[in-house]
Amino acid sequence: VSPQLDGLIDLGDAERLARERLPSATYEFIAAGAGDGRAVAANRAAFARRTVIPRVLAAIDRVQTGIELLGRRLALPVLVPPMGMQRIVDPEGEVAMARGVHAAGTVMCVSAVASRSAAEVAATGVPSWLQLYLMRDPALNAHLLAQARAAGCEAVVLTVDGPVTGRRNRALRAGYTLPPDVTVPAFAGVVGDGPDGPAPAVVDELLASDIGWSALEALVAQAGLPVIVKGILAPADAARACELGAAGVIVSNHGGRQLDAAVASLDALPAVVDAVAGRIPVLLDGGVRSGTDVVIALANGAAAVLVGRPLYWSLAAGGSDGVAAALELLRAEIAQALLLCGCPSPGAAGPALLGPTY
Ligand SMILES: Cc1cc2nc3c(=O)[nH]c(=O)nc-3n(C[C@H](O)[C@H](O)[C@H](O)COP(=O)(O)O)c2cc1C
Repeated sequence: VSPQLDGLIDLGDAERLARERLPSATYEFIAAGAGDGRAVAANRAAFARRTVIPRVLAAIDRVQTGIELLGRRLALPVLVPPMGMQRIVDPEGEVAMARGVHAAGTVMCVSAVASRSAAEVAATGVPSWLQLYLMRDPALNAHLLAQARAAGCEAVVLTVDGPVTGRRNRALRAGYTLPPDVTVPAFAGVVGDGPDGPAPAVVDELLASDIGWSALEALVAQAGLPVIVKGILAPADAARACELGAAGVIVSNHGGRQLDAAVASLDALPAVVDAVAGRIPVLLDGGVRSGTDVVIALANGAAAVLVGRPLYWSLAAGGSDGVAAALELLRAEIAQALLLCGCPSPGAAGPALLGPTY
């Protein structure tokens, strides 16, 4: 545990601490975006261009930061997105992340290529969702869904922006290779013969890369859990996901890791919100780095956001306590930003707050 994490001034501090601790190739793998990183930069630039017009004399001296999402109460409008192979930065990996997320009172989404199982994550008590990539073998999909239900996951998240993995120049230049002991236990006993499951590269070979909308429809029918679609940028795709029974969509360009020319997720958000027209919650991730960013996303119509790399850095720098400290900092920043905007709760941060985009 890093005592410095108690003194975080902003989430950027967690990245600086992680960078000092991690081998440089590991740092590069996590930081990297597709191509030369233009989508990563676009995600941040989109927030920097936005403004809000705060309302004064709102006669409030405190705000509550909690929200309700899919029937579950969260302490703040921030969830943890699926990020694979967390044992590359912490010996306990996703279990350490889960403890920190649980302490902070929110939901953790477990990656399809998590280095700990959904059951191990759930045993910490954290409410969780399980992210899936569809596999070519239907029996494997059924196996993953059964795990999600058995672990008590409250939703499955289908990531749809990865028919192929993005080419990330920084990671390629750094020559990063995964440690051989980091495996995917979700497939233990069904793929390969090791007791700990196959290497992530083996899982990659089994993915169905040519799935269409009928796969979403089939998943909704089969899952027995709400299905959230992650990686939507086009309004027409959001509308179609709604019509096929999705319980939510996540506007995301995968943290800029897939298509380098992809639109910034915040820039894509308003049109998606219009297309969904209140039928299901619209979440956003990509470049959210502060409480102000969260309020900007809410004002633009997001029901909640997910914060990725800063929590990976916090896990690397301070384990569970680091994750809890980063989420608590974010909660305090959100409370302050809402109060300064005259909003007593996240739900009060709506389009009326929107100022000019520079
Ligand atoms: C190291 C790393 C691993 C990731 N692994 C996955 C994954 O397994 N599945 C997935 O849907 N998204 C994955 N993502 C994308 C995140 O879920 C999320 O969309 C992104 O990190 C949000 O952007 P941000 O990092 O700017 O907050 C990963 C991102 C990073 C940085």
